[in-house]
Amino acid sequence: MAETALALDMRQVSKQFPGTLAVDRVDFQVKKGEIHALMGENGAGKSTLMKVLAGLFNDYTGEIYINGEKKELRSPIMAKEAGIGMVYQELSLARKISIYENLLVGRLPKKNALFIDRKKAIQMAKDSLERVGLGNLDPTISVSEISQCDAQLVEIAKVLDSHPSILVMDEPTSSLSSEEVERMFSIIRKLREEGMAIVYISHHMQEIFEIADRVTVMRDGRRVGNALVSETNEEELVQQMVGEPVKKFYGESANTVTSEVVLKLEDFTRWGFFHHVNFELHKGEILAIEGLAGSGRTEIARALIGVDEHHLGKAYFHGKEVNFKNFGEAISTGIGYVTEDRKILGLALSQPVSDNVLSCVIDRYSKGMFYSNAWNNALVDEKINEMSVYPADRTRLVNSFSGGNQQKVLMAKWMAADVDVLILDEPTRGVDINAKQIIHNAIRQYVAQGHAAIIISSDLPEIVGLADRAVVLREGHIIGEIPKEGITENSLLMAANGKGEYVNV
Ligand SMILES: Nc1ncnc2c1ncn2[C@@H]1O[C@H](COP(=O)(O)OP(=O)(O)OP(=O)(O)O)[C@@H](O)[C@H]1O
Ligand SMILES: [Mg+2]
Repeated sequence: MAETALALDMRQVSKQFPGTLAVDRVDFQVKKGEIHALMGENGAGKSTLMKVLAGLFNDYTGEIYINGEKKELRSPIMAKEAGIGMVYQELSLARKISIYENLLVGRLPKKNALFIDRKKAIQMAKDSLERVGLGNLDPTISVSEISQCDAQLVEIAKVLDSHPSILVMDEPTSSLSSEEVERMFSIIRKLREEGMAIVYISHHMQEIFEIADRVTVMRDGRRVGNALVSETNEEELVQQMVGEPVKKFYGESANTVTSEVVLKLEDFTRWGFFHHVNFELHKGEILAIEGLAGSGRTEIARALIGVDEHHLGKAYFHGKEVNFKNFGEAISTGIGYVTEDRKILGLALSQPVSDNVLSCVIDRYSKGMFYSNAWNNALVDEKINEMSVYPADRTRLVNSFSGGNQQKVLMAKWMAADVDVLILDEPTRGVDINAKQIIHNAIRQYVAQGHAAIIISSDLPEIVGLADRAVVLREGHIIGEIPKEGITENSLLMAANGKGEYVNV
């Protein structure tokens, strides 16, 4: 019986929010040593079901058995003691604090009543980093100094330190590149071999078929499907998620590229990150910056908008040199940045949707001017409807939306800002397939109306579907350019690795 033993058995579990039955009588079982994917559209109830398991709600109904024993998971401590480890959709690490302090929060070893035993703490941190393949990382540096991928792995290390028997990962790879995803997968497989039960939430079909043993599908708070991954297929899963036959994914797009240069980088350099970067962006164009994680894509964007400094070279906006001291200056001039990290440069999570959507509009237009509430509300409603934000309620606080819907609010904010040049860094992170299509269409329309966009994305089909041209960045240098006709998943991957016909070396 041991190999079929259930690590987790949730029976008829429900969770009600005011006005929303987010989880509706769900049965969910996971075996020991199984990777179990949980899928569903944005707002289907996946995160909420897992938050029940993590003890975040004391008012859920239904029964939960862990390793055969009935448990009440009415607080995070109860859940932790019951063996639940949870890696959330958004990282919870404190960015300015060292890795070891993050890892050992609440249990830093002491020398005596007063002093922390730093040496011992660092050794303990090293041991837990070792488990996630980060044995070489210096635990004394702050989280802000490491990559998103390493931060994600540190987060996992932290959860593993409590020796969970069930590990839940809510979209752990949504901002990772393909090679980083592989790193993450090898760690997850190792944990499976050790007999851990793993729940894996993702919108990426490919990942599900690569890593998961079984899949459960949710729709509108209900469980609507459950199958062995080897006995189902993509089409069936999408049908269950959406509740109707699948629509075509990428439509044909008209070419709207003009010869007018809106943005030009000349010798743009931030030592150690990117060097002598030159490119032009045209009105009506979507330009991809293609490169591996760490190649400097995000760093170029951050330096351009004045978040980081650059050391050499110039940026021209409509032919005029610009040198922004901060993000606000970039926005009021007409350059926006949809960040890969919603929490830091993106959204004010504890504010209502309307304040978020209007925040850049106000930066841009209202110097000394006032708009009526009615005008503002109409603009917010238009943009959130365009982005299919659900529920389409401008008064709700952003943190009460599902992850994918928060991303749509972020896109709505930038569409409202109406900047000339929009830099999109992982614009559809955590967004389901239908919403992705909606966002893509909106981006195309936006550009067709005389704007321009730069896209950075680890989702290759997204670049294939959207980009009019790609510049290839490798180790901080532009090493080639791919015209629209040449952009395929294969050519992008080859070029990012410094190979193929589009690389000039
Ligand atoms: N704190 C909250 N207050 C009110 N409603 C909430 C709250 N959290 C979630 N909801 C609602 O519960 C439903 C399920 O949300 P949940 O976050 O579980 O979705 P999800 O399946 O994880 O979606 P995504 O793929 O976008 O992350 C949604 O309708 C959401 O708006
Ligand atoms: Mg979620």
